[in-house]
Amino acid sequence: MFNLHGKDVVSILDFNRELIEDVFNAAYIMEKYARGVGLNLLKGKIMATLFFEPSTRTRLSFESAMYRLGGSVIGFTSAEASSVAKGETLSDTIKTVENYCDCIVLRHPAEGAAKLAAELANVPVINAGSGAQEHPTQALLDIYTIKRELGRVDGLEIGIVGDLKYGRTVHSLVYALSLFNVNLSFVSPPGLRLRDEIEEDLRRKGIEFKYYEDIEKIIPNLDVIYVVRIQKERFPDPAEYLRVKGSYKITSSLISKAKSNCIILHPLPRVDEISLDVDSRPQAKYFIQTYYGLCMRMGLLSMILANKEDLKQLFYSSK
Ligand code: NCD
Repeated sequence: MFNLHGKDVVSILDFNRELIEDVFNAAYIMEKYARGVGLNLLKGKIMATLFFEPSTRTRLSFESAMYRLGGSVIGFTSAEASSVAKGETLSDTIKTVENYCDCIVLRHPAEGAAKLAAELANVPVINAGSGAQEHPTQALLDIYTIKRELGRVDGLEIGIVGDLKYGRTVHSLVYALSLFNVNLSFVSPPGLRLRDEIEEDLRRKGIEFKYYEDIEKIIPNLDVIYVVRIQKERFPDPAEYLRVKGSYKITSSLISKAKSNCIILHPLPRVDEISLDVDSRPQAKYFIQTYYGLCMRMGLLSMILANKEDLKQLFYSSK
């Protein structure tokens, strides 16, 4: 319960299975307080959200989580709205903002930005997306959703569909799932396969995985269908993007071939990779996933920022 106290969350690779389970336990307790009631656990604490890239869910759920816990929020939502537009460096921004808050939630287009910020800041830094590299808190909420909706994670057949090359949520999710006993299937156009270094890591850990170009082949076996959009903004060459644009789509007729109790997840935003008629299917869980994200972020912020005695009391009284 205290092993994240005062800590940064830069990479999912810093988590072991036990720590992930601790976060899930905290998230579960927070489900009671995530709708309307709230808590005073982080009263007097300030969280800064420094978002150098667009965001809806990640920023708003972190902010909502902080308010629900009795804390406050400051921040900016684009580089243009901050002194970065005047030429200020990330280091100077971090060394300033740390004086105004108790933790920093950072989203930045540069891989390694969160790591740099964590090294510089005296307050905990949470990575809310570092370029195409990682998005660790998204992976935590993705797996928390699986656990809450299917009751377990071990033993499941999980298909990850879409832009595996540039999708940072995919990278963190794959690393996190490698701590569980799951079978992974990757479905993508050939040009959007996982980065070599992630594949090598999986092989080294003895994780079984297979690639498919066509989801039809494996959809009847899957317990979890995790879909990501093509990350248009990360393509160095627009021609490369045009080649893969629109190359996969989850439709309602495709879902009729899936298990009736499988779940469809998506970190969102959706562009065209899940058709709108899938939303009314019972398997569609991508909106409830955003709610689990709020609960998970409440749990995570409490573990990082709450007074240890208060946290202990809350945990024991919730047992
Ligand atoms: C994702 C992201 O920003 O990486 N969104 C999110 O945080 N929920 C996924 C995406 O942008 O496709």
